[in-house]
Amino acid sequence: MSKCPFDHQSKTLTNAAGSPVADNDNTMSAGAKGPLLLQDVWFQEKLAHFARERIPERVVHAKGSAAYGTFTVTNDLTKYTKAALFSEVGKQTEVLLRFSTVAGERGAADAERDVRGFSLKFYTEQGNWDLVGNNTPVFFIRDPLKFPDFIHTQKRNPQTNLRDADAAWDFWSRHPESLHQVMILFSDRGIPATLRHMNGYGSHTYSFVNANNERFWVKFHFKTQQGHKFFTNEEAAKVVGEDRESSQKDLYEAIERGEFPRWNVQVQIMPEAETNNHNYTFDLTKVWPHKDYPMIELGVLELNRNPQNYFAEVEQAAFAPSNNVPGIGFSPDRMLQGRLFSYQDAQRYRLGVNHHQIPVNAPKCPYHTTHRDGAMRVDTNGGLHPNYAPNRFDTYLPTYDQVSMQIEREAAHFNFREYDEDYYSQPAALYALFDAEQKDRLAGNFAAGLSAVTAKETVEKQLAHFEKISKELADAVRTKLAK
Ligand code: NDP
Ligand code: HEM
Repeated sequence: MSKCPFDHQSKTLTNAAGSPVADNDNTMSAGAKGPLLLQDVWFQEKLAHFARERIPERVVHAKGSAAYGTFTVTNDLTKYTKAALFSEVGKQTEVLLRFSTVAGERGAADAERDVRGFSLKFYTEQGNWDLVGNNTPVFFIRDPLKFPDFIHTQKRNPQTNLRDADAAWDFWSRHPESLHQVMILFSDRGIPATLRHMNGYGSHTYSFVNANNERFWVKFHFKTQQGHKFFTNEEAAKVVGEDRESSQKDLYEAIERGEFPRWNVQVQIMPEAETNNHNYTFDLTKVWPHKDYPMIELGVLELNRNPQNYFAEVEQAAFAPSNNVPGIGFSPDRMLQGRLFSYQDAQRYRLGVNHHQIPVNAPKCPYHTTHRDGAMRVDTNGGLHPNYAPNRFDTYLPTYDQVSMQIEREAAHFNFREYDEDYYSQPAALYALFDAEQKDRLAGNFAAGLSAVTAKETVEKQLAHFEKISKELADAVRTKLAK
């Protein structure tokens, strides 16, 4: 089947069916001053297409910026993983990295206090591997059932249509497991000055599987080579007043100037035998301390090419933690398990069941599935090949090379809180790292956030949590709130 491409050279305007348009300035009318004629089909097509230009924005992380680049292996980790993209030092894989803020809508200002998304799509020869992370190593909750409630408190109040500090802090103060992430959000790292001057983290515990089918748990870290830069609340307010797209502009222009941002890619690796030695192995609200699991170099990530069309390549990009490749796997982290369902489900609604065919999402290696039909199926739909398996032609054979995992427990609604109530030790370790000025800014940012809360009991509940991290912190927030 031959395709008629979009002709970038042509000067002739055509309609979507390819035939030339007679007039693009004057709608056909009955007389110069008369009513318009239904038979001006170009007018109909133009307005009809325009009315359908918007697609649903992402339910979270709606405002984003992206660029292409390369991942280069700098250290041989083949003893831990058989993933082809890590197979030899010097090997390069094309990537797409989309950054985002979480709560704001598609038109939100960039320089807001919010977590930043850090979504990577690696176009490997074994299929696409998506690592959909954030610029923080932890998260607010540790059970995916709570995600819709949490996000509702970050978005707009159903009555006022305003962002709702009461709801946000009501939720956080009732979920002490959120403290670690809340501390990072209200620290200097809560408003990165640019997308280039921040780290990325896979955040979850994933797994590596080597050629002997041995499993290792792994955490991914992307350390900025540009250094960390941040805005204070006051600086951010000024930036937003002058430029709502500060991150998009900075990233786009840096790449156009040839200043390619880079991140050192590092991993922490835990042998499977050590799984039960720690309370943090699969807990997304906790990090793996560096002294227990030191950083191991893996590679370098560089962004070096801007997309040519924002809608086609960024808005339509679909990242899903379920997209993985042999040698990289999941873990029992219950948040990760919840996400394995949610992303492709969201994308089937946002982009359609055949969103994998949109060029930015399509694998750059051959694919061979039995999926057929569905809205907007735009390839050859499997042509004349069988649409079922197994079949007498011996096609569509699975590889069955997955490693098994021992699962011991009975099924029930287990409450994480019943066996882990350590909400404070890691936030306290983070607080201890801050110098006096960082501590002062943290207390000031907390006070600014809490000052918008009208329910006194919520403020007290939150202060009681701060007290358990550090009395100095709680006192500083109280003093600033009183002012
Ligand atoms: P380390 O002293 O070895 O590590 C501390 C890490 O803190 C640094 O490497 C840096 O991580 C990170 N950091 C510094 N300033 C900030 C900030 N404003 N916001 C967020 N992170 C910051 O100690 P541990 O490994 O025992 O960790 C101590 C605490 O550090 C943890 O409880 C956690 O809050 C935080 N942290 C730990 C990380 C980890 O993977 N162990 C990762 C990030 C933070 P980086 O190099 O990634 O910038
Ligand atoms: C986007 C769900 C937790 C990072 C999304 C989207 C959904 C979603 C539905 C929109 C997807 C789309 O339309 O393409 C969830 C659920 C979570 C969860 C149910 C918890 C159970 C997390 C965590 C992280 C994260 C823990 C980071 C560690 C992101 C990012 C995006 C995103 C970066 C934007 C992807 C892009 O750039 O297109 N999430 N999420 N999410 N999520 Fe989550």
